[in-house]
Amino acid sequence: MSESQTDIRKGLVGVVADVSAVSKVMPETNSLTYRGYAVQDLAEACSFEEVAYLLWNGELPDATQLAAFRAEEAGQRTISPALHGVIRAFPKSAHPMDAIRTAVSFLGMEDPEAGDVSEPATRRKAMRLLAKIPTAIAAAHRATKGLEPVEPDPRLSFAQNFFQIVLGQVPAPEVVKAFDVSLILYAEHGFNASTFTARTVTSTGADLHGAVTAAIAALKGPLHGGANEAVMHMLSEIGEPAKALSWLEGRFDHKALVMGFGHRVYKNGDSRVPTMTKYAETMAEVVGDRRWMEMSRILAAAMLERKNIHPNLDFPAGPAYHLMGFDIPLFTPIFVASRITGWAAHVIEQAAENRLIRPLSHYNGVAQRAVPPLDAR
Ligand code: COA
Repeated sequence: MSESQTDIRKGLVGVVADVSAVSKVMPETNSLTYRGYAVQDLAEACSFEEVAYLLWNGELPDATQLAAFRAEEAGQRTISPALHGVIRAFPKSAHPMDAIRTAVSFLGMEDPEAGDVSEPATRRKAMRLLAKIPTAIAAAHRATKGLEPVEPDPRLSFAQNFFQIVLGQVPAPEVVKAFDVSLILYAEHGFNASTFTARTVTSTGADLHGAVTAAIAALKGPLHGGANEAVMHMLSEIGEPAKALSWLEGRFDHKALVMGFGHRVYKNGDSRVPTMTKYAETMAEVVGDRRWMEMSRILAAAMLERKNIHPNLDFPAGPAYHLMGFDIPLFTPIFVASRITGWAAHVIEQAAENRLIRPLSHYNGVAQRAVPPLDAR
């Protein structure tokens, strides 16, 4: 490796690209804070709406501020007949992440402040996206099953409404709480791939819808958000706890990845996992199906013993969403419905102190040469 190549950090591993006051990821203590609050404390004490407010405003809301925030979100959940028409026109085989990416892009064209990238306009756009993304996800999902969309209900919380528009009913409070907790845990996570994508797009002066469209494209990948779906496919393939260990041995033999394990930043455990596992266990009790959590326990113990690799948030979130009654293709779109909060907080932060993101590459192609005439090639 030449001298000039030695400072290349493939995958930007360990590179500190900017300052940020949104969240702090602390791998040395396996912990994560949003605006200074431990994520597990927020998950137990707050609603997703309070956490969204916190991420966007830097402080938790008081009761009046929370009521206003909830009313603003709940009042903007409806999507236009034009977007419903576009969603109906999607191929039935379309990947749900492609569907929500396209819907967000369309919402950008419909946005009443499309040309305005000022901070107040971006904040209003963020609120519209927070409110409308679940409606688009639910409509696209129901369309693939030949079902009509369900109208959002402004009297319901963000989490309750999601169940209503996807499944047509609101479940028991403990199920809604487990879902709300998952939304809080998924909301924000430093300079992860999709957030950095959103910041890069923003750094060019482009608008929030463009940044979020690109972020959704990045989140789709199985090394990022797509892992929560992959976990449930994996558990379904294993089928029963008694087969978990032999299945895992087969993966070790092929040096294959086990989805839901490992993390670029946390090497000794992900602080979000104990909280999500607790609520996934609650779901198993509520539904009366312990199979998935038993399989998960066996896999996690064996991965730690054999590989010293810990599970990440996607590992308990996958079975939790299944036990809540959601189809697997909805899992990563749910991540979008939550992470729009973190993405928007970063877009606002990036735009406020902007510098175009434009790294360098070390050229390793052929040396400069003369262009030969056509008849000499
Ligand atoms: N299953 C099996 N082995 C794994 C693993 C997994 N899920 N995750 C990491 N490893 C192994 C790697 O094979 C590598 O082994 P080696 O040193 O023998 O080559 C070692 O652990 C280090 O992993 P590395 O790929 O260098 O880590 P990374 O920081 O580049 O990648 C992830 C991090 C998340 C991309 C990676 O752990 C992964 O692909 N996990 C599965 C997908 C997933 O759950 N993604 C959600 C992330 S929140």
